[in-house]
Amino acid sequence: MNTRVDDATALAQGVVSGVGENPTVEVALCPPSVYLTTVAEAVAGTPVGLGGQDLYAAADGAFTGEVNAGMLTDVGCRYVILGHSERRALMGECDKQVSEKLHAALAGNLIPIVCVGETLDDREADATEKVVETQLRGSLDGLDEVRAAGIVIAYEPVWAIGTGRTASPEQAEEVHAFIRKLLSELFTDDVASQIRIQYGGSVKPGNAKELLGQPNIDGALVGGASLKAEDFLGIINAG
Ligand code: PGA
Repeated sequence: MNTRVDDATALAQGVVSGVGENPTVEVALCPPSVYLTTVAEAVAGTPVGLGGQDLYAAADGAFTGEVNAGMLTDVGCRYVILGHSERRALMGECDKQVSEKLHAALAGNLIPIVCVGETLDDREADATEKVVETQLRGSLDGLDEVRAAGIVIAYEPVWAIGTGRTASPEQAEEVHAFIRKLLSELFTDDVASQIRIQYGGSVKPGNAKELLGQPNIDGALVGGASLKAEDFLGIINAG
């Protein structure tokens, strides 16, 4: 909820023109759902993809206020963010709901970007791996190997989101390597190597290169810095 329609349009146009025709990384914009159509127009015919910030798991029916996978694909989405820490903390979303959303997204041909990450209290209690493992196992419940290979995981330590505090490349890599190992256990080494694991939490042009240079960091989920086309492009160019 950081943009209004004029900002959303200008931002999308700025990203599209900066990305050019042959970007070396995959780029997507995930605006608030009411601006999806507007941003879809700005990215139409360009390599920049479109995604939703959430979905409701039901295929159809009376769910006032909700938006489902079919509606997202209707307006041109290819991706959907699921289980963002703000939804988990503020809307009480649990792993079971995230897993239902994951299956709904896949059934609707969307690429889910599943967010996991520990709070500061968890980290200080040395519970990072336990929390991330519980979230991952719960959120990916019932997922088969074939479909697993196409999903995206975003590791977002809650203490680093919107706070200006970034996990150091070593801290982030440690958790990413742990996630990769867990994915190997849940699926196979081959599937685990195909799953993209993004880092999110105060990614900026100035720290993107070092973060993205880590062996298990395959991309970034960007919040604040994506609100300025120039900053977002700086991160894209570091990829
Ligand atoms: P941030 O947000 O980049 O502003 O920390 C990340 C996010 O909300 O996913």
